[in-house]
Amino acid sequence: MRILLLTHAFNSLTQRLFVALQQDKHEVTIEFDINDETAQEAIDLFQPDLIVAPYLKRAIPDSIWQNYTCLIVHPGIIGDRGPSSLDWAILNQEKTWGVTVLQANAEMDAGDIWASVEFEMRDATKASLYRNEVTTAAVKAVQQAVEKFQNPEFKPTPLKQKILSAKGKLRPLMAQNIRRINWQKDNTNTVLRKIKGADGFPGIRDNLFGQDVFIYDAHLAQGLKGEAGEVIARSGLAICKATTDAAVWIGHVKDKSHHHAFKLPATVLFADKVQDLFEVPEAEGYQQIWYEEDKDVGYLHFPFYNGAMSTKQCQDLLAAYQQATKKNTKVIVLMGGADFWSNGIHLNMIEVAKSPADESWANINAMDDLSEAIIRTTSHIVVSAMQGNVGAGGVFLARAADEVWAHEHVILNPHYKDMGNLYGSEYWTYLLPKYCGEDHANRITQARLPMCVSEALDLGLLDTVIQGEKAGFIEAVKSKATTLAQQSNIYDALQKKEVQRDQDEAEKPLSAYREEELRRMKKNFYGFDPSYHVARYNFVYKVCKSRTPLTLASHRNIRMNDLRRVG
Ligand code: COA
Repeated sequence: MRILLLTHAFNSLTQRLFVALQQDKHEVTIEFDINDETAQEAIDLFQPDLIVAPYLKRAIPDSIWQNYTCLIVHPGIIGDRGPSSLDWAILNQEKTWGVTVLQANAEMDAGDIWASVEFEMRDATKASLYRNEVTTAAVKAVQQAVEKFQNPEFKPTPLKQKILSAKGKLRPLMAQNIRRINWQKDNTNTVLRKIKGADGFPGIRDNLFGQDVFIYDAHLAQGLKGEAGEVIARSGLAICKATTDAAVWIGHVKDKSHHHAFKLPATVLFADKVQDLFEVPEAEGYQQIWYEEDKDVGYLHFPFYNGAMSTKQCQDLLAAYQQATKKNTKVIVLMGGADFWSNGIHLNMIEVAKSPADESWANINAMDDLSEAIIRTTSHIVVSAMQGNVGAGGVFLARAADEVWAHEHVILNPHYKDMGNLYGSEYWTYLLPKYCGEDHANRITQARLPMCVSEALDLGLLDTVIQGEKAGFIEAVKSKATTLAQQSNIYDALQKKEVQRDQDEAEKPLSAYREEELRRMKKNFYGFDPSYHVARYNFVYKVCKSRTPLTLASHRNIRMNDLRRVG
């Protein structure tokens, strides 16, 4: 079938749906919902059998839903309506929630029901639930709906038939006055729930050091107490605010009134205010990197917020990695975080720097140092284990390991070009030909499209896909890593690795790859063409796209091709 995804942005859910529908052998294209005319133009060009709207911020125009079947993905259970579904589900401590696929009609979220899939709620941020449970349920529900659409006998169920028995109901937009934390009354659990229910968007409006800000990335601050509402400590990137019965770490903050109105680490935004605060070591406070060891295997966790890795975070991770290589273990597993393995250099920290070009340079060099240390490791077998999505330089950093394992739902975005034609580094010019072959290397870097694990496996970006519930992923990784460490020929494998590294080095030293990549990156950062700086600004400030990139809108390429043929 020909399926048009009409969406506000190519977000993680839309990416998963795009690859899943393509795997189901549908012809899929994407149009950003910019205005009525462009949406209609896309339809005229593509002539879709079905329109699916995975993520919209406005209603589908009457002229479209009246003439085409349009299915809306709503992140709520049957009967639930309104723009803050997941936010309410978290605040109301729902045990289960769901995704419903509805047909667009005159009333928002009130169309006939095509499919609905439920899931168990988890104690996590809204963004994490969205990227995991909601996305998995959405893919299932859309696949069911698409199958039903192909059955001429199928009739969707009108909402009014379900409305009396349905648990879901119409709920308003969750405004900041509902979200607001009352630091004098709310206990720690309530504070954490409120912040998680608004993280990554819109955040909770709060006051820090007399400034009106939005707060994100909250964690229980073990063992700290103070006067409710007071900032009492700092640790790493976070500051600590006391609640009525304990305290919470706040890792990230956005000051909308500031000229840098994007998320930044709290201790960066308030650098001049936090100096005198009581400092808690990261290991006992806001911990972003930790190491654990079990049965000959060392596990390095680094759940950096949004998968972004600043210069300092890369340097800290390198230090932790070097420590791990000194241990008497056989295997090191790079675990990343639950939601992202890594999304490459930290674009927000670069944007806020005095010289974004210098900070970009420092950040990519720090990434390269880490990548190089992983490539040069001959004392251990190194594994990258992707629990969550991975993008740009993060993909190539992961490939620096000997083996890459990923959960079946991981989406990879192994390209830099969308960031203003960034050339990229992390030794990708060495790693891709080595693990994927020259042809695949070209395909991977030029495509600018997300890919699912089976494609990544075929291309050599991954070695193993771990199936099953996400909750079982860490246990599955531990079991595989233990088997790897305890295999009888581990010393042979390590020796083979050392020989291969020496051969590769003799053929072309790593320093030459780095030098060539960084020469191109220098042009991106310091050259005449400002594309990277413009693209980064647009990304960090979330400037809405004014058209759909041609890499996504394949229907527009069809027209271009036709025009070329006619010409
Ligand atoms: N630096 C800073 N923030 C980043 C980031 C980075 N490298 N990559 C992602 N983020 C942030 C996004 O701004 C967003 O922030 P929010 O919480 O305020 O919404 C959040 O992480 C999630 O990213 P989003 O783009 O919504 O996720 P996605 O799953 O839809 O898309 C990517 C994933 C990887 C395609 C996309 O995030 C991306 O292009 N990131 C930039 C990668 C890059 O070019 N890095 C530099 C070169 S190495």
